[in-house]
Amino acid sequence: MDKMTLNYPQIPLRGTLAVPGDKSISHRAVMFGGIAKGRTTVSGFLPGEDCLRTIECFRLLGADISRNGTDLVIDSPGIDGWQEPADVLYTGNSGTTTRLMVGILAGSRVHSVLAGDESIARRPMKRVTGPLREMGADIRGRDGAQYTPLSILGGPLRPINYEMPVASAQVKSAILFAAMRADGTSVIREKEVSRDHTERMMRNFGMEVHSEDGSITLQGGQELVPVHVDVPGDISSAAFFLAAAALVPDSEVVLENVGLNPTRTGMIDVLEAMGAEFTVDMSDADDSELRGTVTIRSSSLKATEIGGDLIPRLIDEIPVIALLATQAEGTTVIRDAEELRVKETDRIAAVAEELGKLGADITPTEDGMIINGPTKLSGASLDSRGDHRIGMMAAVAALVTDSPVELKGPGCIAISYPEFFGHLDSLRGE
Ligand code: S3P
Repeated sequence: MDKMTLNYPQIPLRGTLAVPGDKSISHRAVMFGGIAKGRTTVSGFLPGEDCLRTIECFRLLGADISRNGTDLVIDSPGIDGWQEPADVLYTGNSGTTTRLMVGILAGSRVHSVLAGDESIARRPMKRVTGPLREMGADIRGRDGAQYTPLSILGGPLRPINYEMPVASAQVKSAILFAAMRADGTSVIREKEVSRDHTERMMRNFGMEVHSEDGSITLQGGQELVPVHVDVPGDISSAAFFLAAAALVPDSEVVLENVGLNPTRTGMIDVLEAMGAEFTVDMSDADDSELRGTVTIRSSSLKATEIGGDLIPRLIDEIPVIALLATQAEGTTVIRDAEELRVKETDRIAAVAEELGKLGADITPTEDGMIINGPTKLSGASLDSRGDHRIGMMAAVAALVTDSPVELKGPGCIAISYPEFFGHLDSLRGE
């Protein structure tokens, strides 16, 4: 579908929803299952386009992966038994697939080529290929391995002692995957802690990994033991309905089984700072990934300031947080978020320009934005720019505009949330 009219006369959002599986954890479940020898099973998997790309990569490497809805069975010969892929490993729009696969493939025994869509071709890869080459990885690519396509000849790796220049879980994870195969002990230091799903999953698969004060220590050569992974719901997907319920008068929405890993809950902190009315009930299930139920009601919101070590904990939620800020009393300032410039799109420009078309008062800055609220929003023609989170931000914005919004390119929403519009309709009682 090329264009869609979002005509949402204001009616309260009510009901209970289980948001789809966490994208980051779904990717990693397939990756660990593909690296480990034997059978890994997964429940709650996100069948979004990005995660399906990761499955395809591992099939080409020789893993037998069957999927029944959100359940996976992965039978893998293990990384040392992989076959050389007969085709390019195509990563589509997925930065996580691309960057993490480079780290995994660098320490394998096969030659492979990674390439994605035109957005991936613009995204910086030096941040992973640089440290991996320091570990002895044989990686070639466009412009000195700064961009895809990348060609990776797997082989022996040295351990690394690495200080991360950017807070990025993708970079950290790529190095950790390579460090698993290195001959010795690697240490990675983060100035600001990014999502730690890789470290947690390493422990689930029987590895020892030590994290303390932003420092992660990993001994290479450890055996992986396949297990069952139960993926919690994605807080980054829940964020759109948390925002929608807070914004639309008389709403009350219950979101179940939401992943509440503390490295991901920056949105909850922001909702609290903005004065949103919500409760969080943590599940007492024994799981390395915390989860729980979040209940939220429509709220009158006030502006807030967002920066520093909060940024990696809500980096993907900033588009919808910016929308919330357009309806909050006062001036919201978002800083230290320059990473948004190199996401699926330049999300600082995309948010300011697209919400600006509706009448929002947003001034983009180098590393964030300044948002004055509240402003009345009126219908206009918006463009997702092929970015799923910009598409969903536009759809939530349409719930509070006084006339319909036209959305160009809504199809990209299937990258992380194929059932998004169905879930929205169900909360609207449609
Ligand atoms: C992700 C890390 C983040 C995030 C992305 C998923 C991951 O990217 O924006 O959606 O699964 O590791 P960076 O590591 O580039 O910050």
